[in-house]
Amino acid sequence: MTQDTFTIRDNSTGKEADFPLRRGTIGTSVIDVSTLNKQMGLFTFDPGFVSTASCKSAITYIDGEKGVLLYRGYPIDQLAENCSFLEVAYLLMNGELGNKAEQAEFEHEIGQHAMLHEAMRSFIDGFHYDAHPMAMMVGIVGSLSAFYHSELNMDDPEHRRISAMRMLAKMPVIAAACHRHSIGYPFVYPRADLSYCENFLNMMFSLPSQKYIDKDNYISPVAVKALNLLFILHADHEQNASTSTVRLASSTGANPYACIAAGIGALWGPAHGGANEAVLSMLEEIGSVDRIPEYIAKAKDKNDPFRLMGFGHRVYKNFDPRATIIRKACYEVLEQIPGNDPLFDLALALEEYALKDAYFVEKKLYPNVDFYSGIIYKALNIPVDMFTVMFTIARTSGWVSHWLEMMAEPGQRIGRPRQVYTGKELRNFEPPKK
Ligand code: CMC
Repeated sequence: MTQDTFTIRDNSTGKEADFPLRRGTIGTSVIDVSTLNKQMGLFTFDPGFVSTASCKSAITYIDGEKGVLLYRGYPIDQLAENCSFLEVAYLLMNGELGNKAEQAEFEHEIGQHAMLHEAMRSFIDGFHYDAHPMAMMVGIVGSLSAFYHSELNMDDPEHRRISAMRMLAKMPVIAAACHRHSIGYPFVYPRADLSYCENFLNMMFSLPSQKYIDKDNYISPVAVKALNLLFILHADHEQNASTSTVRLASSTGANPYACIAAGIGALWGPAHGGANEAVLSMLEEIGSVDRIPEYIAKAKDKNDPFRLMGFGHRVYKNFDPRATIIRKACYEVLEQIPGNDPLFDLALALEEYALKDAYFVEKKLYPNVDFYSGIIYKALNIPVDMFTVMFTIARTSGWVSHWLEMMAEPGQRIGRPRQVYTGKELRNFEPPKK
């Protein structure tokens, strides 16, 4: 980072101070206001962190105006075209793509860490059959520190690496176990001979007797390719709400399983990862093209809480490059696994209608990654309440990468924002009147 300065003047007192202007390798510069309070006795106020960079990071870069998304410098479309999800996970965690031997070792280790402690089965059994799988994910991932507490010295880089690998390896196993629990089917153990995506599909859909189920159907090359693509597109997205939650929780020194569980909780919300489930419900509720104008009107009505799910983004103000890739993939998947076409046609019509509407144009609201992802997941027979869980599996690679980056940084401080207090001024205690 090179330094210039930025002067802040308090017009009420005439006090003035210089603050360093910091530039990253690319992207918007930031004013380093870390000494603002010391120098001027002021805090900054930025609800929703609209103008605030919370950390330095070398993992992911987004240019929201140009629709650019880079993982470790590589454009997302190139990674989506050429890599497996685990190659991208390696890249995110280590900074460079692994060579053949490094990647093979990484994948071998993922296979080794995939098994769940057998005692976790009774823990999972404790959930009611109709528990939302995201509720189960929060609880089960949070409980991992109770099962794997031997490598939790967070000052030891090797312990940190092992914890990160464990989470990446176990997340699809936990996710599939949640699904199997909800339908009352026996858990399926992970298999080291299958790829990450094949393994997940096998754990989700295989039956003790394969006689009645066509394995090539649920672990078809089309399904594996589509899952791989969606996992890559969801792998990381710099300081989004759940990643920031993981970082904030980690800043306290809490164990990584608890921090990732906090991230899962944040991801669940419909404004974030929960949007993919909400999009499907919305499309099903709209039902037919002729009802689109009614729902667009609802989305524009300030007195109606309805929002067009899968539309809008804090950072992308032109297009979401992930949505462009997924829309294209929808055509390919539905050509080979038909059945969801009416929903896709409805989504395309809704996008076309919204993009011509002045409200959406003026506010720069475009389809985001989650507008089309559910259509593919549905084609792969993933239940709608598992959509955000799918996002969780993928985003774990981003969360652990940010966690590793943050924990390796010297001089870490606890994250502790300030506030504008709007409550009562000092007053003396008086017992409440009878
Ligand atoms: N439908 C209708 N109006 C919208 C929408 C929408 N989906 N999104 C934003 N707006 C309006 C909003 O009402 C506001 O209007 P005004 O300026 O008149 O108050 C304006 O656009 C700006 O919206 P905002 O809520 O201030 O923007 P934000 O950056 O705080 O929120 C968002 C971004 C993604 C939470 C929001 O666009 C949204 O709720 N979208 C629907 C949920 C969704 O698809 N979320 C997935 C995000 S991508 C996956 C991920 O990263 O998790």
